[in-house]
Amino acid sequence: MLNIAVIISGNGSNLQALIDACATPNFPARITMVIANRPEAYGLKRAEMAGLPNHLIDHSNYDSRLNFETAINDTLNQVQVDLICLAGFMRILSLEFTQKWHNRLINIHPSLLPAYGGLHTHKRALQDNCAFHGATVHYVRPELDRGPLILQAKVSVLAEDTVATLAARVLEKEHSLYPLCIKLLADGRVKISGETARIDGKIGPRQLEEFSTRYS
Ligand code: GRF
Repeated sequence: MLNIAVIISGNGSNLQALIDACATPNFPARITMVIANRPEAYGLKRAEMAGLPNHLIDHSNYDSRLNFETAINDTLNQVQVDLICLAGFMRILSLEFTQKWHNRLINIHPSLLPAYGGLHTHKRALQDNCAFHGATVHYVRPELDRGPLILQAKVSVLAEDTVATLAARVLEKEHSLYPLCIKLLADGRVKISGETARIDGKIGPRQLEEFSTRYS
């Protein structure tokens, strides 16, 4: 069993996808902790409803990033954590934190990295008239939205797309991409060497569909 901690800032629909995946029979991971840095994060309620240990660690109560991250580490130390999953976590993590959790810290980002790191990814992809857009799960490095890519899912950009319609289609993909990625990691099928992650064996659309559910 892979013990995962999920760190969020907001709605937590990706957290919900992970909660639901972990509840399916034989899923090889469990969530041991949920942390949010904002009191209004709905994901805290989702964790509560699922009966998962959860903590609010409000960054605005700390006078430095170091103290904020120490509080996160202290909370994670209360349980077993093999892997941290950032899911809509909107703070930048320090070099020390990313090094401490090197290759045990992953993130989901709403673009096909390395394109469109940072914010407003859907708007930027539309402005550039991209044919494809999507989501990426990657290992976290100190540089924002950088690090070995683990898995990506793409969506076609439609002529009639708005930021809202495109964002919704990408988010729906994220909800199957993240659980699939956790399963591959837990099954030992993600091999990382240097700054490249490779998946053992083939991954097709069927594997993604296995986890597809709609969330809001
Ligand atoms: C997702 O699009 C994720 O990729 C990005 O923030 C959004 C979080 O959504 N990092 P949710 O809180 O999981 O609903």
